[in-house]
Amino acid sequence: MPDSYEELFLKKIEDKSILVGVVGLGYVGLPLILSFAEAGFRVLGLDVDEEKIRRLNEGRGYIAHIKDERIKKVTDSGLMAVTTDFSRASEADALIICVPTPLSCYREPDLSFVTGTMNSLAPHLRPGQLLSLESTTYPGTTDEVLRPVIEGRGLAIGQDFFLVYSPEREDPANPSFETKSIPKVLGGATEACAKVGLALYGQVVNRMVPVSSTQAAELTKLLENIYRAVNIGLVNELKTVADSMGLDIFEVIHAAATKPFGFTPFYPGPGIGGHCIPIDPFYLTWKARAYGLHTRFIELAGEINQSMPRWVVDKLIQALNERGQAVKGAKILILGIAYKKNVDDMRESPSVEVMELLEDMGAVLSYNDPHVPVFPRMRRFYFDLHSVELTEETLGAADAVVMLTNHAAFDIPFIARHARLIIDTRGAFPAAGNVIKA
Ligand SMILES: NC(=O)c1ccc[n+]([C@@H]2O[C@H](COP(=O)([O-])OP(=O)(O)OC[C@H]3O[C@@H](n4cnc5c(N)ncnc54)[C@H](O)[C@@H]3O)[C@@H](O)[C@H]2O)c1
Repeated sequence: MPDSYEELFLKKIEDKSILVGVVGLGYVGLPLILSFAEAGFRVLGLDVDEEKIRRLNEGRGYIAHIKDERIKKVTDSGLMAVTTDFSRASEADALIICVPTPLSCYREPDLSFVTGTMNSLAPHLRPGQLLSLESTTYPGTTDEVLRPVIEGRGLAIGQDFFLVYSPEREDPANPSFETKSIPKVLGGATEACAKVGLALYGQVVNRMVPVSSTQAAELTKLLENIYRAVNIGLVNELKTVADSMGLDIFEVIHAAATKPFGFTPFYPGPGIGGHCIPIDPFYLTWKARAYGLHTRFIELAGEINQSMPRWVVDKLIQALNERGQAVKGAKILILGIAYKKNVDDMRESPSVEVMELLEDMGAVLSYNDPHVPVFPRMRRFYFDLHSVELTEETLGAADAVVMLTNHAAFDIPFIARHARLIIDTRGAFPAAGNVIKA
């Protein structure tokens, strides 16, 4: 019999008797739980969404890039149980939390999903377990929000309970990377916590990257996303400058990207979207205030990126004006409403903001998105629209076609041939008389 919980946990990993629980089976939690099951571990999925649990129990998924066959294989293996019953959390040796961390309407961290999860788990925590938070959040969350709940159960962290923070890294729809091949950062509340956490994740990830604390791991994740937000803000600003000078920013970025060192290309667009880049940086902004500090780069990038939908609409207004037309009553066909290419995810999509601005001005809107056949119900916006087919007629009937998300499925030469006016926010179309870069 191993003489410490640490040894016991490591032994259970070694003989594969460990039960890995994942709480929150969304974009992050679902691929993670499948990875553990595919590596031969028993897994337990917990989610509050009964529909997701029902589908998984039937061997079916709900995220486009995670195929049903993959889920079915895991369900059939008998290694995976999924439930809404949180009392089963005590069965799990590891509990990995992957719930949403959005912003409130005041653009402040909304940790209600994390605290809600902790409240549901608290009565079922027991000695010998590992708790890992994967949700993106500000430095200090694991220590200030999770730790007291665990200690409130009389558990001693580092001795009879293990606590780590290990952020998720994902690039949806990028086929070059999967859970296994993306190095994973992890910080433990104590050395023993880190050791146990690294051993667990090491079963499904090729390269673990330990850092000295949960706070360092939390800030690492934010740095990665702030880096993207700031660099996208920079190229969006440069786009407006280049445009005024009559230059094509995409040509300039492609040329700069040939520099073999010291330059990483970022590309402008109609704004930023998705669950991460528009949101995560502001978790740090909020926390920095407690130290009397202002995160000026984050605020500035946010301001520039948020102004992009308006800038694109202004370019459209000018282009229509030159043709003697107004937005009011104009037929505008939007290409791509998901927030990034080749995905069906609409969260925080700037396309929706562009559509809202155009609708307010009286445009007659339609859209095509091969990944989003019906416009979904969203928190702030709703359009009663279906994706229209892209034909000679639909393209020709539009007063303007606005390229917002350049899905690979778009037939660019066909669109260029039949559209009368194209507003191109993605550098997708070669220069031509009917193409306006925006
Ligand atoms: N999507 C990404 O590409 C990505 C990448 C890196 C990090 N993250 C971070 O990971 C976290 C999760 O993001 P996501 O995209 O997977 O979100 P998601 O909305 O796809 O999934 C969250 C899941 O949690 C469930 N849930 C909500 N409240 C719950 C509760 N109290 N108990 C149990 N389950 C609950 C929801 O039903 C849902 O299934 C966020 O913090 C996000 O910032 C996301």
